[in-house]
Amino acid sequence: MTTTSDVLIMGGGVIGLAIAVELKLRGASVTVLCRDFHAAASHAAAGMLAPQAEAIPPSPMRDLCLRSRALYPEWTRKLEEISGLATGYWPCGILAPVYEIRGQDASNIHSSRDCPAEWLDRDAINWHQPGLGTEVVGGWWYPEDAQVDNRALARALWTAAESLGVDVRDGIKVEGIQQQQGQVVGIQTSVGIVHAEHYVLAAGAWSHELLPLPVRPKKGQMLSVRVPEGSYSELPLQRVLFAPDIYMVPRRDSPSETLRDRRIVIGATSEEVGFTPYNTPAGIQTLLERAIKLYPQLQNYPIHELWWGFRPATPDELPILGSGPSKNLTLATGHYRNGILLAPLTAVLIADLIWEQKSDPLVNHFNYSRFYQGRGQETPSPLAPHLSPLTSPSSPLIIQPSPKMQTLNPPLETLDRPLNIAGRTFQSRLMTGTGKYRNMEEMQQSITQSGCEIVTVAVRRVQTKAPGHEGLAEALDWTKLWMLPNTAGCQTAEEAIRVARLGREMAKLLGQEDNNFVKLEVIPDPKYLLPDPIGTLEAAEKLVQEGFAVLPYINADPMLAKRLEEVGCVTVMPLASPIGSGQGLKTTANIQIIIENAGVPVVVDAGIGSPSEAAQAMELGADALLINTAIAQATNPAAMARAMKLATEAGRLAYLAGRIPIKAYASASSPLSGTIT
Ligand code: FAD
Ligand code: GLY
Repeated sequence: MTTTSDVLIMGGGVIGLAIAVELKLRGASVTVLCRDFHAAASHAAAGMLAPQAEAIPPSPMRDLCLRSRALYPEWTRKLEEISGLATGYWPCGILAPVYEIRGQDASNIHSSRDCPAEWLDRDAINWHQPGLGTEVVGGWWYPEDAQVDNRALARALWTAAESLGVDVRDGIKVEGIQQQQGQVVGIQTSVGIVHAEHYVLAAGAWSHELLPLPVRPKKGQMLSVRVPEGSYSELPLQRVLFAPDIYMVPRRDSPSETLRDRRIVIGATSEEVGFTPYNTPAGIQTLLERAIKLYPQLQNYPIHELWWGFRPATPDELPILGSGPSKNLTLATGHYRNGILLAPLTAVLIADLIWEQKSDPLVNHFNYSRFYQGRGQETPSPLAPHLSPLTSPSSPLIIQPSPKMQTLNPPLETLDRPLNIAGRTFQSRLMTGTGKYRNMEEMQQSITQSGCEIVTVAVRRVQTKAPGHEGLAEALDWTKLWMLPNTAGCQTAEEAIRVARLGREMAKLLGQEDNNFVKLEVIPDPKYLLPDPIGTLEAAEKLVQEGFAVLPYINADPMLAKRLEEVGCVTVMPLASPIGSGQGLKTTANIQIIIENAGVPVVVDAGIGSPSEAAQAMELGADALLINTAIAQATNPAAMARAMKLATEAGRLAYLAGRIPIKAYASASSPLSGTIT
């Protein structure tokens, strides 16, 4: 793929598409590359245009939201005209019922000229909206808040972009950004390198995979019910309900076809679980309980659909807008809970910046540099000189630093990010185990010396009080260590699932209530201890559905690794060589392929015998290592644990630093140029 356009946009959610349409209307040639149109948060959202109901306090963010809300009527009208598709924009207002009256309620401090709001007491709110739960004691009416059918909007944007002549491609993954001397010179994609004059990063919750920006996924589970046919002459809900813990968004097809759609969208959970997919019974139960409390009659409505999505969250919950760390790279990401609302204004502001070199003063509040201030860096550079090693652990592109590439090196402490597994961060990239030590003291000292934060424990051995496994609860400080229960000893998927559930209970008993991690091992073969790929996949699928964060131990099989990632595993853990063999890296080529293709951390597990092998695995780009036997059985385990810690860190740093290319011939250390002859 060699497309060259004025602007290339990475990400095809509402933000990327809105910018594309705006730029195209101003005369730019535009390409949009999107990995998966339907996986976007833009499809998962509720579509509320709700600066007031979302209680955004007076601030530049509120100004941004209000300006964007004001653009909606004209923006959607124009999109509908270009695309010929409805967007479901509905200025229906939002009613925000409350269950208790706080000091500032019932006064009119929420109301202003640009944000009208009206307090309704119990009688008034029930008159406004019949059918509310008996616990509702009053609420706010925000007549200017509105909604749009976000899926219809995304479709209309896509169609509008296509019909205007934007080159919009779905199914193409951006894998890395190439930079030279402060400029982006191309992007590596799943179909080759693509060039443009200017680039926009609009990849939502996945943006940190391409640049080390502090954008993380905040999962939201949703569901919809359908108003039963024939029971109503008009929709029972004529506006959005936005209670403190739940919201409901009635949909209609058009002002004249109010009863055709009949969906009521209900949301949403807000979970820090990384990219863990699927709806969970607990998530859906919470939503249903809260929805029935707010609006009891929907308990009999048929459930229509369940889904989930990932909000692009930033540490201060504000978007990242404006110039990026390279001259021709603009950022438009991190819109968190309000990306649908903010799409029209984001498009205008970003198009102004790129096409007219005009910067609205409001944009300055949202520059990415706010996250890098106070670190002794005048011009913060979240970019490494050669981008790829700093991009996602999963980014396959490894660009060797060429002499021409930028020589601006970020300080070492900003070079790396913590290891992130299922939304939990860890500073150490070395995991260890508790088995095979000669005694408890050696184990305690070794774990301390290893600096590890994750310790795997064989659930079965604890249950059966196998030697070395009694007293584990007291022997280690579980307030500092994260337990990774493993299913060692399980020969079938069924056994592993059972043991994983016991493991979860075990972690709870240690005070780790929210620990849903499990290291999945399904090993029927006692001689080579090789894992069963089919049993592992079966068990992983089931455990993910049960809400586990699954870390599967596997042979170094790239296809299996991909399948496990697809079913929702939070890491893959390929073996370097058979467990406990100390044979070192025997599966290098396959591990490399796994690393290149993984979207989750790759933890090299089993077989590492010495620190040099540990460093080598990290230099390949592994995200972490799990080492047990090589430490536990060393002559001096504590010393070996420390050596492994240092090797893991050295390997990681070397990977980030970018090794020199291997050459066939010698190359003098002191260049001859400039010498006197
Ligand atoms: P996304 O919509 O996530 O799109 C990003 C796109 O980039 C995706 O298509 C993805 O496939 C693509 N991509 C990622 N990485 C790559 C890559 N490497 N290469 C190529 N493509 C890539 N907002 C509101 O305003 N109102 C609401 O009521 C509302 N409700 C919400 C409810 C839920 C449950 C959720 C999850 C979100 C909600 N939001 C709401 C927030 C809103 O959905 C987001 O802020 C918004 O969709 C972000 O849009 P985006 O285009 O930045 O990201
Ligand atoms: N804005 C609603 C949500 O993010 O759930």
